[in-house]
Amino acid sequence: MKKRILTGIKPTGYAHLGNYFGAIKPAIELSQSAEFEYFYFIADNHALTTLKSAEEMKEYSYNIACTWLACGLDPNKVVFYRQTDVPEIFHLNWILSNVTPKGLMNRAHAYKAKVEENIANGVDVDSGVNMGLYNYPILMSADILLFDANLVPVGLDQKQHIEIARDIAESFNKKYGKTFVMPEEYIEKDTCTLVGLDGRKMSKSYNNQIQLFTDEKTLQKSINKIITDSRLPGEPKDPDCTLATLYKIFASDEDYQKYVNDLKTGMGWGDAKKELFRVVNAKLSPMRDKFNYYMSHKEEVDEILRTGAEKARKVALQTYEKVLKNIGVK
Ligand code: TRP
Repeated sequence: MKKRILTGIKPTGYAHLGNYFGAIKPAIELSQSAEFEYFYFIADNHALTTLKSAEEMKEYSYNIACTWLACGLDPNKVVFYRQTDVPEIFHLNWILSNVTPKGLMNRAHAYKAKVEENIANGVDVDSGVNMGLYNYPILMSADILLFDANLVPVGLDQKQHIEIARDIAESFNKKYGKTFVMPEEYIEKDTCTLVGLDGRKMSKSYNNQIQLFTDEKTLQKSINKIITDSRLPGEPKDPDCTLATLYKIFASDEDYQKYVNDLKTGMGWGDAKKELFRVVNAKLSPMRDKFNYYMSHKEEVDEILRTGAEKARKVALQTYEKVLKNIGVK
């Protein structure tokens, strides 16, 4: 049997360039090999811990689905589905919560960070914590374990969640007999971290991101906001700057060398930004067209996700039936 690779994508905002190079592109490239089976899903219920309204849920879920399709996810190679469309995940979540020690959840990073923040602010330790945030790692374990996933591509910040999934799988297996496969995190070593507008790591939490799919004007505006020093045209510039770092990712080696040289010999920041926009836009344009196509054909996206959910449930039901049998309800 082929090994399985599974990952969830939380619809909590618009994808930016950092998401593309750090997560989307590597995951899509990974799915091109026939060596594994791939399950990529929209973790819409995980997003409930942060989303503010039904509108946001709709908007971001479609945005993320269309983004992945536009970036080249092939629904014939990847089982692509919405978490919500596989209800067995939520039942498994409950079952797993009964083999999860409360102390394990107390140690989960996101919850712990919130508690520490509350203590520092002198308010109740659990102020602002809902049970969705607290139980988040259990739902994530259900996502993974229901599919017998072997490898889970995630960022370093999610490593602890995979360890928790293993802990939970182990205590279930111990109590009810071998049921779940032990998942491993798959952390890609050399994904590139992009710099954002202010030179720090590009991240939504720093609000320094360049959105992946917007219209050209907005893209140009974002690029114009990249912080530079105050050197004037004609003055030599340090090529170790945000503009050149971004340029390198989008341009050929040859163009990059020329760009560096032009900066050293006095190209103005305005021209440097124009040239960066040119290469970024050239790369994103065809993908953006696909993105816009899907955004205006949402019924096609729904159909893709529905077909994905059908395939996903078929697989999930095998483990699900085994779980029901092992806990004695069937
Ligand atoms: N928690 C992950 C994140 O914030 C998203 C996620 C939900 C996930 N379920 C998953 C990732 C299952 C991998 C496997 O990015």
